[in-house]
Amino acid sequence: MNPLIVYYSYSGITKGLAEDIALITDGDLREIEPEEPYSFSYNTAVKEVRAQIEKGYCPPLRRGVESVGDAETIFIGSPNWLRTFAPPVLSFLRSVDLSGKTIIPFCTHGGGGFGHMLEDYRRECATSDVREGIALKGGYSFDELQGWLEANARSLAT
Ligand SMILES: Cc1cc2nc3c(=O)[nH]c(=O)nc-3n(C[C@H](O)[C@H](O)[C@H](O)COP(=O)(O)O)c2cc1C
Repeated sequence: MNPLIVYYSYSGITKGLAEDIALITDGDLREIEPEEPYSFSYNTAVKEVRAQIEKGYCPPLRRGVESVGDAETIFIGSPNWLRTFAPPVLSFLRSVDLSGKTIIPFCTHGGGGFGHMLEDYRRECATSDVREGIALKGGYSFDELQGWLEANARSLAT
């Protein structure tokens, strides 16, 4: 069964990473999109995001909430936003049944790595097997990603 690669991306960097993971793993891509897009202005977006994260708000999604079906391995990707995943990812995690699935988080970031995203995934997905995943800055090398996926493929598949 091919993996499913679910992601949210604001400015396209995580989208590129998701596409690379899909290419290397022969996975299926699914983009999460909130009904209300965040502001194009970085400073306004930070304010919007901070308010949503502080409240634990789950923005309604325009797309991305179909069942994951038989997929056993699900890569979930987000930009690092204020050290966690973006609120649309929280909406996805709370709307779709991921119990028994292997979750491989991935993120892109501006220097903060995963932040506390992995702990947040483990809290939200208590009935899933959440793995370590991979955090990359924009401008990462495709070879580095491919090497990581190959090195981890055995443990990811079991
Ligand atoms: C609202 C907002 C908050 C951010 N917070 C962080 C952060 O806390 N730590 C960090 O390393 N990068 C942070 N960034 C930078 C993004 O994680 C980084 O640019 C990411 O690669 C963008 O991915 P995207 O193009 O898929 O949206 C933030 C960016 C935005 C817009």
